[in-house]
Amino acid sequence: MASQIAMVLLSLDSEEVGSLKEGVNLKKNPEDGKCYIIYKSNTGLKACKNQCKHQGGLFIKDIEDLDGRTVKCTKHNWKLNVSTMKYVNPPDSFLQDELEVEILDDGGLQLVELNPMDPWLADPREPLELQEGEVKVCIQLFSHYPTLKVLSERRPDVPIYVGDTVRPVFWYLEQSRVKLTNINIVPFGVWQDIDEHLRFMILMDGVHPEMDTCIIVEYKGHMILNTVDCTRPNGGKLPLNVDLMLSDFAGGASGFPMTFYGGKYSDSWKAEFVKNERKKLLNYKAQLVKSLKPRIYCPFAGYFVEAHPSDRYIKDTNTKNSAEDLNALINKHAPDIKTWTPKPGAVLDLGLALRDPTNSEAITNPPASAKIYKDSWDFDLYVDELNSAITSEIFKHRSWIQFYYTWAGFQNYNLVVRVIETDDDFEPLTDGYDYLVDFMDLSFPSKRPDREHCYVEVRHCEAPGKQLSAA
Ligand code: FES
Repeated sequence: MASQIAMVLLSLDSEEVGSLKEGVNLKKNPEDGKCYIIYKSNTGLKACKNQCKHQGGLFIKDIEDLDGRTVKCTKHNWKLNVSTMKYVNPPDSFLQDELEVEILDDGGLQLVELNPMDPWLADPREPLELQEGEVKVCIQLFSHYPTLKVLSERRPDVPIYVGDTVRPVFWYLEQSRVKLTNINIVPFGVWQDIDEHLRFMILMDGVHPEMDTCIIVEYKGHMILNTVDCTRPNGGKLPLNVDLMLSDFAGGASGFPMTFYGGKYSDSWKAEFVKNERKKLLNYKAQLVKSLKPRIYCPFAGYFVEAHPSDRYIKDTNTKNSAEDLNALINKHAPDIKTWTPKPGAVLDLGLALRDPTNSEAITNPPASAKIYKDSWDFDLYVDELNSAITSEIFKHRSWIQFYYTWAGFQNYNLVVRVIETDDDFEPLTDGYDYLVDFMDLSFPSKRPDREHCYVEVRHCEAPGKQLSAA
């Protein structure tokens, strides 16, 4: 079976993107003559193939539709509302498959399709009954180099499987002194057999196919889906009715907008923003779970905290969703789905839980006194690393700054950034760096340009934690 790939169906450059009109845009790929629909609104872009679900007819704009959201098939007049991707005629019939719209750094865009769409349907297996104790699920979290290092010291040959992402999953393993000797890169969307009953499949993320992945593990025909870290796992196409679904719940990992000051970034604006984002994320996750109908759902990733003293403000203001919040919402909207909030050390017996979701013996909880969050941290590991980076050769040469921005390649954007090197109290250092970058043409002017532009000041101190101001 062919492995899963992300196929670019249509590319537009920044000029073509700029000339997209509000509402329906019909586009043709000049190379293969295939047609696409791009719908532009104030909430962004949506896209699909210009191909009717009925018998593959071509859509044209529907002149009777005054809202400019509907297209009409030239074959038998089916109508599709591209703002929702639902067919309106016949009513309540089909959904059009959406394509991923990937915005490129240079302002262009690509329409991307993940192929094949439902690879887990290949070679299906009848579920066999699981015995008590046969499959036990407990959550172990590790993703950072220090934990990988501990793992590699205990068992360097532990088999690790990663998807064949364009960007390697493990960067600089050698330099970080992590010695793992059994890393296997596997193709996307193909079952990988571990033994007669156990297999797994890695799927791409629709938004970041170059680096994010999700995974389906199947044992005796029972599927466990883990979508952690994905923005839009497998482009939104996921197996229905899996036995156990695991995902993240918290959000807020970027710390935005708590690191911004000035301009519109008042405390009340930030509080309102974070509140809305939390609500949106919670609803999105709950809807996703409801639509996929797993037998059991477990939110497990997102237990993180901005622990360093210099990040105190972010910790206090960047409120995050809790696993309990999400499960409560799911219980309300989809009472048939059993939810599980795993405590550290808790174990779920999948066989028991599937046979009778109300069986309290299916879950073994740790003693009530078990700690959920750490209360002490070894910051030196990270701070030393950062401090040694500060004295790096690279910062001694002014020209490396320009080299860096040119290498990053982000431009054609009406933004001017001023970067100021500061002490721990964010006061500028007398001999520190202080420069402007104009991202319009990637130049380094000595004063802000006369044209109207967005402007951000970045104050960067040597301690971990950063502060920005914007105008
Ligand atoms: S092919 Fe589109 S309506 Fe029949």
